[in-house]
Amino acid sequence: MESFEVNPRPTPNATTTNPLPRIVNTIVVCVTMQAEAMPLVQTLNLTEEEEPSIFPKALPWKKYSGTHEGLTVHVVVPGKDLKLGVDSVGTVPVSMLTYASIVSLHPDLIINAGTAGGFRAKGAAIGDVFVATQFANHDRRIPVPVFDEYGIGTLAATPIPNLVKALELKEGKLSTGNSLDMTPQDEEIIKANDATIKDMEGAAVAYVANLLTVPLIAMKAVTDIVDGDKPTVEEFLGNMSRAAAALSATIPRVLEYVNAKSISNL
Ligand code: ADE
Repeated sequence: MESFEVNPRPTPNATTTNPLPRIVNTIVVCVTMQAEAMPLVQTLNLTEEEEPSIFPKALPWKKYSGTHEGLTVHVVVPGKDLKLGVDSVGTVPVSMLTYASIVSLHPDLIINAGTAGGFRAKGAAIGDVFVATQFANHDRRIPVPVFDEYGIGTLAATPIPNLVKALELKEGKLSTGNSLDMTPQDEEIIKANDATIKDMEGAAVAYVANLLTVPLIAMKAVTDIVDGDKPTVEEFLGNMSRAAAALSATIPRVLEYVNAKSISNL
């Protein structure tokens, strides 16, 4: 634990307390699956952190760091489940990782990159990379006044209209839940959330980023069409490497665009 710093450094860029524009110099890219992260790590020529880690020793979390055109970039991954050896997907690991990365690395911007299921009826196609315009949850049903709204937990994304226009990116609302499949109840809430894409992490990253007032861009590559006729698991596994390639092609362009810009100009 010695090297794990839990107190955030007060940053001169802090949006709520200081009118100075927040300039992007340091970025944390938070990616859940190792297979999604590695093409990006290779494209950006990042190196895995040597001991001692900024994270507690017992954890499977990984960090790959380097510079890209003067920008400091850290790709963080929650790593493999200690018991089962599979990627630590879902909201809990990514929330912890996002929190620890923010307090240790003090990013000016977080990018949550990953895969998502897309709704064809909302314009999604396999391999598309979407920027999330809104985050909400669809598996936190609490039918008690006000807690119902807390459960959905809608958060607006950091506005990035210039970036979206310059890079010609697709945009859509994101709904998050801890299941790859979709129950009828999930479907009803996803529709109420007006979602174009569904994932298993985005709203959790948004919750932490919002708490700590760090701007967030979520970029999700579509691996499967939720309202299509193919089984989700088959489509998800079959399109995983295509999605990872789409992310590793798009994210460096995003990094180049945001580099040294003020968040309010994105
Ligand atoms: N990630 C990729 N496809 C997904 C889906 N259909 N649901 C949730 N997360 C996903």
